[in-house]
Amino acid sequence: MRIGVLTAGGDCPGLNAVIRSVVHRAVAGHDDEVIGFEDGFKGLLDGRFRPLDLDAVSGILARGGTILGSARLERARLREAAENCEELARSYGIDALIPIGGEGTLTAARMLADAGMPVVGVPKTIDNDISATDRTFGFDTAVGVATEAIDRLKTTAESHQRVMVVEVMGRHAGWIALESGMAGGAHGICLPERSFDVADLVKMVEERFARGKKFAVICVAEGAHPAAGSMDYQKGEIDQYGHERFAGIGNRLAAELENRLGKEARPVILGHVQRGGTPTAYDRVLATRFGWHAVEAAHRGDFGMMMALRGTEVTLVPLAEAVIELKRVPADRMDEADSVF
Ligand code: F6P
Repeated sequence: MRIGVLTAGGDCPGLNAVIRSVVHRAVAGHDDEVIGFEDGFKGLLDGRFRPLDLDAVSGILARGGTILGSARLERARLREAAENCEELARSYGIDALIPIGGEGTLTAARMLADAGMPVVGVPKTIDNDISATDRTFGFDTAVGVATEAIDRLKTTAESHQRVMVVEVMGRHAGWIALESGMAGGAHGICLPERSFDVADLVKMVEERFARGKKFAVICVAEGAHPAAGSMDYQKGEIDQYGHERFAGIGNRLAAELENRLGKEARPVILGHVQRGGTPTAYDRVLATRFGWHAVEAAHRGDFGMMMALRGTEVTLVPLAEAVIELKRVPADRMDEADSVF
């Protein structure tokens, strides 16, 4: 069998672990050939690919990013790929394509599968917002980075009697903010799923200072938004990939708190730090398992499917199911952290 693999969309710690695992299982386990397309679907369309053998993936398990490069693709070019996908598969001689990516990539994978490409998807995203799987690799690493940041910010906040507003990733789902906020013991958590009232945050900080705790850390997801009438905040524009550009809630909230409290407040935007660097052991294991199972699925002919973690089992779900809706933080998970909302 000849298998094509690509990584698309925003990168994520653990991508290289999947690529390595696919190559190991395919080449060493099945005597397959593997080719890697460069820069996601762009490489598939532009004919940029390279063979991946055991040497090519040696030493990449712990490496962040993706050795294949990643890119987002405009919708028009995706349609082009879908329209030509049988011809593309034939021209590369591939019997299976394993695209590794988030919601956008899996939607594209579904389009290709519907058009006749033999596709087995692997979900990734630090945001953990793909509904068909309990977990995506990358999330554990991102939560670790954000938690460490909160831990560190607490000590400097305390030295200077400041409020720190830590902005973490999460455009539509606040999983990183929820879990790093809980793990780091943030005093306030703001998620996209539930609008926040800035007056509640002001009250919380004032009460802390009144109790002699002279600092506070608030963890805010980039997609969080204030309740109507609570604070001025403009929504961002939509970019060419259909993503909303954020207007900087961390900066805006820190300025508002400083104003209302008359105390120093500093924004800290963690941004792509959460996506870079070496994956945690958990993410390496999950990524490796997904890669292994993706190759097995290809050999069984289970196309149009995606890897998913359900409990501790890796299972297959239809790509169609994976992209119906995003997995958002449910109310009961927010209730568990309620004292900090
Ligand atoms: O992978 C998803 C994500 O991490 C979002 O949380 C974030 O808004 C986005 O990627 C940013 O990606 P980029 O800057 O690469 O477009």
